[in-house]
Amino acid sequence: MSQSRDPNRQVPVRRVALEPTFESVPRHFAAGGDLITSHIIAALSAVFPDGEDFFVRTVRHYREQITDPVLADQVSGFIGQEVTHGREHRGFNTHLDTLGYHTKFVERLTKKGLAFRERHVPPIANLASTAALEHVTATLAELVMRSPQTQESFGHEAVRNLFLWHALEESEHKAVAFDVYRAVGGGERLRIFTMRMIRYGFAIGIGLQVVISLLMDKATYRPGKLRSSWRYVKKQPFLSREVWEQLKSYEVRGFHPDDRPTNDLVERYREELFGANGSIPLPPARTAVA
Ligand SMILES: [Fe+2]
Ligand SMILES: [Fe+2]
Repeated sequence: MSQSRDPNRQVPVRRVALEPTFESVPRHFAAGGDLITSHIIAALSAVFPDGEDFFVRTVRHYREQITDPVLADQVSGFIGQEVTHGREHRGFNTHLDTLGYHTKFVERLTKKGLAFRERHVPPIANLASTAALEHVTATLAELVMRSPQTQESFGHEAVRNLFLWHALEESEHKAVAFDVYRAVGGGERLRIFTMRMIRYGFAIGIGLQVVISLLMDKATYRPGKLRSSWRYVKKQPFLSREVWEQLKSYEVRGFHPDDRPTNDLVERYREELFGANGSIPLPPARTAVA
């Protein structure tokens, strides 16, 4: 039997060229120049590259134990996709940093924090964290792909493209780290305990980062700005009960990421983003050198 729950899962590594499109992104890029949403998106982007490097290391650690060629192939796709996400988000973070966000500082802090964790925590617990965080990203990815309101909140086309492309690939590989965790003997108790910690840790961590980031932005102190922004943000689907419950569903014994079907979304966005009229900018095709 395959170590992958879905042997037909395709995890393609795509070359994209989003970086030049970030140049025209303004400081408060989110829909209608929304203050808090811009800071939330910047906070997420700031932790992605080093978080994704951590995911890659934790899965790679077990690569030799993956004897099933199907899962081994999916692992290669997972690594390739995460490396590409990290590269594009680093580019976006560089631009955000020039606009006044402290994204590069957060990148350094994330890198140090995760390296500290890896020195003190056994590899299986780190892999459990990756599997849990992959459920967090898959949940957010599903929301981004399903909700026109969330897509609209990205405001600028370059930001929307970055997050939609990332969302598509998070959905494509959503069960890979999970299947590796199972294949190398990771148990249910550690898996569930890890998610319980991460669910709160992630929400509090990002929340704190957003508050600090807002305090450092002059626009926050403009009369009425924060209040009107909060009125907009509190209606956003990512703060809904459903998202929290979806995260929590991981804590049920026997859970598997594929229990929640998202193949329809994957098909749809493969076509919308990378089909004949796809919206994602691609690098020029390489020509063979004679
Ligand atoms: Fe990613
Ligand atoms: Fe991922």
